[in-house]
Amino acid sequence: MALKLNPLACQPYKLPSSARPPVSSSRSPKFLCLASSSSPALSSGVKEVESLKKPFTPPKEVHVQVLHSMPPQKIEIFESMEDWAEQNLLPHLKDVEKSWQPQDFLPDPASDGFEDQVKELRERARELPDDYFVVLVGDMITEEALPTYQTMLNTLDGVRDETGASPTSWAVWTRAWTAEENRHGDLLNKYLYLSGRVDMRQIEKTIQYLIGSGMDPRTENNPYLGFIYTSFQERATFISHGNTARQAKEHGDLKLAQICGTIAADEKRHETAYTKIVEKLLEIDPDGTVVAFADMMRKKISMPAHLMSA
Ligand SMILES: [Fe+2]
Ligand SMILES: [Fe+2]
Repeated sequence: MALKLNPLACQPYKLPSSARPPVSSSRSPKFLCLASSSSPALSSGVKEVESLKKPFTPPKEVHVQVLHSMPPQKIEIFESMEDWAEQNLLPHLKDVEKSWQPQDFLPDPASDGFEDQVKELRERARELPDDYFVVLVGDMITEEALPTYQTMLNTLDGVRDETGASPTSWAVWTRAWTAEENRHGDLLNKYLYLSGRVDMRQIEKTIQYLIGSGMDPRTENNPYLGFIYTSFQERATFISHGNTARQAKEHGDLKLAQICGTIAADEKRHETAYTKIVEKLLEIDPDGTVVAFADMMRKKISMPAHLMSA
């Protein structure tokens, strides 16, 4: 099956008034502007560099980005939520020893029956239509760009993992959330590889392009915006994996339905956790949270793979 995913056009956007800080700030938000290579002021310099060696450029670039829109004094809110996060957020993580692993759902390469199990998997996959695999590949590529999502969480002021091994509840959550999510891409990737239904090299190229492009959810290093974003994003992936589970079942592939349904259950648990954070923020700072919510709704929630290119 030739995989042709429609790339979304990435247009530089004008800064809307809603992109300004949701409440009065003691400092102005910073703006990051990336000059494009078509800028006349830079064009001669760029041509010189290109004549030496063409530099690597991501296929999609975001040209105007708002930075640090949360007033710095509000960082204290997130610091004061440390104990709350430990008691209310971390319980939504699963013990690794009790967690499922991709291998639980895949043929065991160390067993004598491996080849027969692969044959059965491929026979079941043959019954699914091409359209189904287009969606499943989209889901898998989205999951595989996980480095971008961990990066995104670590852009958020007051909750980022400052060292990569920070002991704060926020950082513990982010690392463990990433570790749970990492199984989603692994499982779907291995399943799709074994199915024989897709062009794996094209998919792998798309993943490489996508991670290189990153993402721009327009959360402005602002944890209010960030956690509203993740609440919706987890819900969207829950719905998407739930739909592929249902469709697999309808086509008689119960094992694939179990794979997608298991991933969907993780997304639901993550949605619950992120929603809890937003609920708590509504309690502590109702005005700031409602303004941030309105801001994200006006901007719309861009899904994680919005900078995907084929
Ligand atoms: Fe996921
Ligand atoms: Fe997720």
